[in-house]
Amino acid sequence: MKTKVIAVADNKGGVGKTTTAGVLADGLAKMCREHRNGANVLVVDLDPQGNQADIFGVRADVLAERLCVGNVLMEPGDLRVLQNNIISLDREEEGLPRPNLYLLPASRNLEDVTQDLVVMTTMRTAQRSGFSLDTVLADALSPLLTQFDFIVIDCPPKLDTLKRAVYNFADEVVVPVKTDHVSLVGARQHTDDLYNLQQEDPRKFKARVSLVIPTMQPSRQVLATQVVEQMEAFYGRDLVSQPVPESVYVKEAPAAGGKTLFEYAPSSAPSAVYAAIVERIFNG
Ligand SMILES: Nc1ncnc2c1ncn2[C@@H]1O[C@H](COP(=O)(O)OP(=O)(O)OP(=O)(O)O)[C@@H](O)[C@H]1O
Ligand SMILES: [Mg+2]
Repeated sequence: MKTKVIAVADNKGGVGKTTTAGVLADGLAKMCREHRNGANVLVVDLDPQGNQADIFGVRADVLAERLCVGNVLMEPGDLRVLQNNIISLDREEEGLPRPNLYLLPASRNLEDVTQDLVVMTTMRTAQRSGFSLDTVLADALSPLLTQFDFIVIDCPPKLDTLKRAVYNFADEVVVPVKTDHVSLVGARQHTDDLYNLQQEDPRKFKARVSLVIPTMQPSRQVLATQVVEQMEAFYGRDLVSQPVPESVYVKEAPAAGGKTLFEYAPSSAPSAVYAAIVERIFNG
């Protein structure tokens, strides 16, 4: 089975990227346990805020062991560094079994590393050894393709330096969009950027938008419904999922000792919508 690499990305901040990436990874891992003989799922956090560790309740371990995807990007090809920076998210002893779910976390260190990577591209030695910012993720993470069935990448709101590398490494892009007009503008900008890269080199930048997810949909608001209709007009109906309702459960889950939404509120309205989205991506 070929690994599916899914980037969760949008130009806009605070639209539900981190939430969606965490829920997708958790849901895909469950689907793998049920239907694919325990195949493995990895979350890659590319945001120096490192919130995926909070979503799954492993922040203390990540800090104690100084784990960071930045360490891996600086040492492409070093399999020991790669494996040593990946943490299991299984918390079975606390009643949260996640035997096939792993995280390559981020920390503030990622900010310094991305600066260093930019400097390296301008150095002649780097040019000689074939170093390219466009392939830093593929160069560092490709060994994981034999280990994981799904790799979900949580992108920061400002991708900048790593944008080209993400769209080189990822197969699919999932775009969460808050149901307000400004967020829709941000999503269009994001998708325009991606199309421009595809035009530049369709083989190198192979990522395609596979799903647009309206998020934080208020229960009674005409405007939000109009925004979803505008999304469907822009992306096409098939690409836009059912909207994820605004719900306090989504905020409470990480605060409740780092439980995932499916663990904290499995029968809530946002869980039901996300479960359908997980199924679509699992089968898609
Ligand atoms: N469906 C929802 N209902 C209510 N709150 C939500 C929902 N989805 C996300 N949130 C909350 O909105 C806030 C922003 O979400 P999140 O961190 O996932 O966005 P983000 O796009 O990753 O932000 P950033 O751009 O800072 O990385 C969080 O507090 C999160 O708990
Ligand atoms: Mg985020």
